[in-house]
Amino acid sequence: MVESWEPAAVNDEKVHAHGGQILHENGFWYFIGEDRRGRSRVSIYRSRDFISWERRYTFTLDAAVDNSFPGRDTTLEGGACGRCNLERPKIIRSRRSGRYVMWMHFEYENDYREARLASAWADSIEGPYFYTGSFRPLGNMSRDLNVFTDDDGQAYIISTTDDNRTLNIYALDDDAMSVREKTASLFPSRYREAPVLFKKDGLYHLITSGCTGWKPNQGMYSWSHTLSEGWNELVPFGDSTTFDSQPASVFEKDGKLMYLGDRWGGDRESYFRSTYVILPLRLEDGVIEIGDEK
Ligand code: DGJ
Repeated sequence: MVESWEPAAVNDEKVHAHGGQILHENGFWYFIGEDRRGRSRVSIYRSRDFISWERRYTFTLDAAVDNSFPGRDTTLEGGACGRCNLERPKIIRSRRSGRYVMWMHFEYENDYREARLASAWADSIEGPYFYTGSFRPLGNMSRDLNVFTDDDGQAYIISTTDDNRTLNIYALDDDAMSVREKTASLFPSRYREAPVLFKKDGLYHLITSGCTGWKPNQGMYSWSHTLSEGWNELVPFGDSTTFDSQPASVFEKDGKLMYLGDRWGGDRESYFRSTYVILPLRLEDGVIEIGDEK
């Protein structure tokens, strides 16, 4: 059994950074993710030693709004089913402005019909973030998402579309605040979610989960020489439950690739008991495996 990673928080009883991302920035590790307590939505934790984590900022329903993006809905509350949930937050840095842009999946509570992207920006990774609203990228439904920056600084978003049937990759503009164009539609009718896109030694890699709500399932990966086409057939990795986890992000630590996954509580009610899994990610000729050497 793969053990849960339960990071120790300085200020909180438990770290809430679900569906998250781990980044190294300005000499610190940052762990960013969903925090659904009260009016909180996204928390940003910081650590020097990867052991003790301090919550530095929380994006809440009371965030300041930047209304300068026409066609976006800047309402954080309301809607048919009440308050919004902001899932799978990921931060990317704009190559033009240097601003930190947080991209999220917007829904009203447990109703997943909104299927929108949402974003916020800040001058510092630790906020404060200004909410720039929610929208459907190029009119498409958009649920589970991730961000990716290529070697040339071009930023992308990958998100599930068409009721989770397909994964779309979108190129962002240089501010990383707007979607410019669609780069690819991947794996139509394969119902892959929880996408994580990364590049290593010139090859693009994509890891995904199946689509079974909060229950874990078989992770699958693919690789390609270009983002827009040439993706290999999906291949399983891990075991049939991806070691009881769902992909959240991949990061590099001490020169090694690491897999971060969510070990969800199992359903909506036990969401707050969710923990995390961190495993070394082994990569050879496009083949991915997670966990220690066999
Ligand atoms: C699977 C997604 O990956 C999660 O982020 C969350 O949206 C659940 N589905 C909800 O059922």
